[in-house]
Amino acid sequence: MSQKNHIYPSAPRITKEERVQLMGQKPFLVWFTGLSAAGKSTLANHLEVALHQKGYKTYLLDGDNLRIGLNRDLGFSQKDRDENIRRVGEVARLMMDAGLIVITAFISPMEKEREFLRKLIGADDFFEIHVDCPIEVCEARDPKGIYKKVRAGQIQNFTGIDSPYEVPSKLFLLVDTEKESLLESVNKIKQGLKSVLLSISNS
Ligand code: ADX
Repeated sequence: MSQKNHIYPSAPRITKEERVQLMGQKPFLVWFTGLSAAGKSTLANHLEVALHQKGYKTYLLDGDNLRIGLNRDLGFSQKDRDENIRRVGEVARLMMDAGLIVITAFISPMEKEREFLRKLIGADDFFEIHVDCPIEVCEARDPKGIYKKVRAGQIQNFTGIDSPYEVPSKLFLLVDTEKESLLESVNKIKQGLKSVLLSISNS
């Protein structure tokens, strides 16, 4: 019989509401999705700096960074990517439970992964941003030299080349990093989140 049948979660004495009150902000999750080199990490960092400077308590979870720690046992098969996203979703949920605003940068290529997150986090607190950029432009940028390795046959199952990326259909916002400047995209995101941030500081 599965060990899961013998687990009895207990309710902590301090509730999320109490922590949220003490933190003075309502937690939410901004989820950046898009191809490698589309600009997810750059945008996530800029958004975090902007919120941090305004006094919001934030935390940034980034695919490449988590893959050398928490997720270092995972590769890029669809099963491993699903597990990557599941773990990140659970970590984000705990951080939100602790009262933080969480920002993430993961390729998260499949609709079903992002749908899982929306359900786990709750649609009202989950802001999915598609960092859109044509694969040719991502490949030309190639900041990590990774597309070159893909073309040289050193990496398989690479998103957008020989592994799929499903364009988000239920997104909160799209930023086009081919056409927009970094500043334009960041401003668009800040503008999009304005009402959320306002309602938070008033709550
Ligand atoms: S995800 O698909 O599981 O969401 P994640 O965002 O964590 O991916 O990691 C993506 C990063 O891993 C890329 O930016 C790239 O640097 C690196 N990487 C290494 N191999 C692959 C691959 N086969 N496909 C995509 N990214 C890869």
